[in-house]
Order: sequence, then structure tokens, then C-alpha cells
Amino acid sequence: MRKTILITGSSRGIGRATALSLNDTNLNVVVNYKEQKEKAEEVVTILRTRGLNAIAIQADISKFEQVENMFKQIKDTFGGVDILVNNAGIASVAFCQDVSIEMWHEIFAVNVDGMFYCTKLALENMISKKSGVIVNLASIWGQTGGSMESHYSATKGAIMSYTKALASELGPSNIRVNAVAPGGIFTDMIAGLPKPALDAYASEVPLLRIGEPNEIANTIKFLISDDASYITGQIIAVNGGHYMG
Ligand SMILES: NC(=O)c1ccc[n+]([C@@H]2O[C@H](COP(=O)([O-])OP(=O)(O)OC[C@H]3O[C@@H](n4cnc5c(N)ncnc54)[C@H](OP(=O)(O)O)[C@@H]3O)[C@@H](O)[C@H]2O)c1
Repeated sequence: MRKTILITGSSRGIGRATALSLNDTNLNVVVNYKEQKEKAEEVVTILRTRGLNAIAIQADISKFEQVENMFKQIKDTFGGVDILVNNAGIASVAFCQDVSIEMWHEIFAVNVDGMFYCTKLALENMISKKSGVIVNLASIWGQTGGSMESHYSATKGAIMSYTKALASELGPSNIRVNAVAPGGIFTDMIAGLPKPALDAYASEVPLLRIGEPNEIANTIKFLISDDASYITGQIIAVNGGHYMG
């Protein structure tokens, strides 16, 4: 039976790697993006050449009306979301006393509200079908608390609690909910950091390197598969051993 997967923020980085890791031709893939239309279309083209159904949909997940429109488009095209990867996220670095009210609200609007909006609308289909899988993107900083990333860490802590609460509530409906907590992964999100800071970070990781997007994609691909059929409510750390919870 065909299934539909929505990966938020899959024009670039971890979301893109996750979309490109898919090879099941029974999948409809929705590539969501906010701004980078060309990159999203490129992902769609690659997937289509492999025989998967794929479409790109622009929606800023921090805006509920835009998320509603995206889900309407998915419903009209494919009938509903069976697998949701809440991947889109933003990060910034600031001393905690310098985090402005605007920064705080913006990061919560994307990382937490956006995840909530997509989950709320995806559940309509999943609960009625008594089947579904959700993977949320947390972070090592949600687990340990990142210095100069207090606002980002707070959003990731919220994502982890939400993941566990949903898993408890939705297990009886045959819906699995997990989170992946990456360590530093080489994407645009961290590419702008100074090289000495990236080198210093890598030197603290037992595997002595920053991770690659496909190393997170592989974990997400496993979690959405039937191989993970008895895994729910877990925060899977993929961080080169940097934090061993
Ligand atoms: N990279 C890391 O080291 C790392 C570590 C831990 C956790 N994570 C988490 O992993 C997830 C992906 O991170 P990444 O490193 O792949 O990020 P990235 O390279 O910066 O890519 C972000 C993606 O999210 C999309 N996006 C951003 N804001 C959006 C919005 N309001 N609505 C819809 N889409 C939006 C972007 O779309 P456009 O291209 O259209 O702008 C892009 O596709 C995030 O949740 C992040 O917090 C990353």
C-alpha cells in the first residue's frame, strides 16, 4: 500500500539527506521548504527519477495557515500523511542575557510551534487509520544544555518532552513517536561557525569529527521503517559519543 511521508525542511541539510535516503517506490514524498524552491525541486527530481512520487510544497511551518494549506494540498494529492518527520528548525548563538524577546519567540515559533502544527494536522489521518510514525529532530543541546544556545536548547527540550508524551498517548492508536538527537552535523546550520570553533568541537567528540547529514538520515530511515516496530518514546542520540545519556 502506498504511504505518504512529509519531511519538513527537506530542501537542505538533514531533511534533504533523509528524503534522498528513500528508495521505496511505494512512497509519496512531500518535500517541504520555506525559501529554497530550487533546492526543493532538485530533491523532487532526483526522487522521481528513482520512481518515487514526490512533490515540493512551500510553507513556513511557524505559520498555522500555511501549514493548513500544505496539509490540504497533501490531502488533495495523496490523501493524508502516514509518516511525519518534523525536521525543519532554526538555530542561533547568543549569550542568554542577549536573547531578545523576538529571538525567543521566533525560535519557539519554528522549532516548537511548527512541530506542533504539523503533528496536529498529521494526526487526523493517523488516528483514523490507527497507524502512523512520527520522528522529531531534537539535539544534543536539548539533552545537555548548550552554552550560548539557551533559547535553542529550550526548544529542543520541549521537543523531547512532547515526543515522550505523544508516544505514551498514541501508542494504543498504533502510532510510534521518536526523536533523534544529533550532535554537530555538517550542514548550513553550523557551516557559518568559525573553523577553530568547529575544530575544537570535533576534538571533544570521541569519534573526533563532526557528523554528516546522511548519518542522521540513516537513523531516521530506520525509525520510520518496520524494523523499528517496537521502538517508541525514545530519544536516539547520534553524536559520535559526545554525550552518552
Ligand atoms: N546541523 C546540526 O548540527 C544539528 C544538530 C542537532 C540538531 N539539528 C536539527 O536538525 C534539524 C535540521 O537541521 P539542519 O542542520 O539540516 O538545518 P539546515 O541545513 O539549516 O536546513 C534547515 C531546513 O529547514 C527549512 N526551514 C527553516 N525554517 C523553516 C520554516 N519556518 N518553515 C519550513 N522550513 C523551514 C529550510 O528550508 P529553506 O531551505 O527553504 O530555507 C531547510 O530546508 C533542525 O531541527 C536542527 O535543529 C541540527
